Amino acid sequence: MNIALLGYGTVGSGTYELIMKNKEMIKDKYNIDINIKSILVRNKQKYENLEHYNLFTTDSNVIFDNDIDVVISLIGGLNPSYDYVKKALKNKKHVITANKDLIAEYFIELNNLAYENNVSLNYEASVGGGIPILRPLNSMLVGNNVDSIYSIINGTTNFILSQMYENNLSYDEALKIAQDLGFAESNPSSDVEGLDASRKLAILTMLTFNKYISWKDIKTTGITNIDALDIKYAKKLDKKIKLFAISKKSENGIYLGVRPVYIEKSNQLSKIDNEYNGIHIKSALTGDILIYGKGAGKFPTASSVFSDLISIINKSPINKINLGETTILENYPDSVNWFIRFNSNNFSKTTEKIFKVFNSYKFDLNTIEFNKEITVKIYNVKEEFIKKSLKKFEDESYKYYLIIKGDSDVEN
Ligand SMILES: NC(=O)c1ccc[n+]([C@@H]2O[C@H](COP(=O)([O-])OP(=O)(O)OC[C@H]3O[C@@H](n4cnc5c(N)ncnc54)[C@H](OP(=O)(O)O)[C@@H]3O)[C@@H](O)[C@H]2O)c1
Repeated sequence: MNIALLGYGTVGSGTYELIMKNKEMIKDKYNIDINIKSILVRNKQKYENLEHYNLFTTDSNVIFDNDIDVVISLIGGLNPSYDYVKKALKNKKHVITANKDLIAEYFIELNNLAYENNVSLNYEASVGGGIPILRPLNSMLVGNNVDSIYSIINGTTNFILSQMYENNLSYDEALKIAQDLGFAESNPSSDVEGLDASRKLAILTMLTFNKYISWKDIKTTGITNIDALDIKYAKKLDKKIKLFAISKKSENGIYLGVRPVYIEKSNQLSKIDNEYNGIHIKSALTGDILIYGKGAGKFPTASSVFSDLISIINKSPINKINLGETTILENYPDSVNWFIRFNSNNFSKTTEKIFKVFNSYKFDLNTIEFNKEITVKIYNVKEEFIKKSLKKFEDESYKYYLIIKGDSDVEN
């Protein structure tokens, strides 16, 4: 089996090492000779000290050589990844990629192309890095009627929020540490603005609910506006703050959201800290399933890529992906608890208004910074009501958070 490896960065080099390490095992177990024929990079010189330097090339034509069976694409971004993957599939090569941007953007087109050409398109590493999640969802949980997915699927933001919480750091200080340790890129916008999580959520949801989701339609709020007071309030409420990606079936469609939430400490997902990812699947038949592990990194991610290779070696069936349509709901559909921060120049007027607007609901009013901030914890209402009510506060600035309950009642 001949392989063209595209990219030799973090994941590409890890994948190369893992394949070489397991070459004998694959020969013994499957009677297949794995042969990495070429490695495509931008700048060959970077690799001239490596023993296998002769494999490196900058000529993209090697991908489409007749004797290549599998293309492993570990180049980020849409271009030229899209062209390479598309052409590889058309040339009847199995494709493996870790590129979530590519898969989220061209999910239907690339899956169809693979099916039409009777080759497989594999992207286990695109969500959850080293956590086996897509294959279990796609095979083991098929027909299981999943109701919801609550997840922490971006390691960078989880690391930053954990550092802010544990070490009382500002957002900028925590980001700097994340960058120094290699958990955040020098341009972290896709992570901290929640876009990376949205793309992964779209992929997870399409495979789980069999409905087409454009990641651009997912209401997404990142963590750039989380400040020290948000952390202080979370601590005061004995909760944590996490960036959640939620996909939840409802009568009228699917609620999809990437948003910072307050989460009770008895919820298992509240314990997923730093660069770790966690995915909580709730299904009628299985009850709760929680998977957690390293969402990124050289060998965790390479091991998911390697599992895709084993799936190809095992000749896993190539299934057609048929996606229906759905309505994407912008508001969290259930009646739950919320935490609202009001910043006001007129403390007594805002307090009066809060009592008037939330009059028919149970709520607690509090303050940390007297004469500046008022907080409200409101119980058992829908997001629709929260949004409508907040429109009445034209003179105040505010933020609000969904409160995720503990494990006995994760769905609130
Ligand atoms: N890093 C992780 O932990 C992780 C986890 C999950 C998924 N992923 C995904 O895996 C993919 C690879 O990530 P990475 O972190 O390994 O990236 P990386 O360290 O930046 O490496 C990228 C590699 O791709 C090569 N490359 C980039 N543009 C190219 C082009 N136009 N033509 C040929 N080669 C090109 C680079 O070549 P040069 O060496 O010559 O520059 C480099 O070897 C991305 O889609 C990422 O989202 C990464």
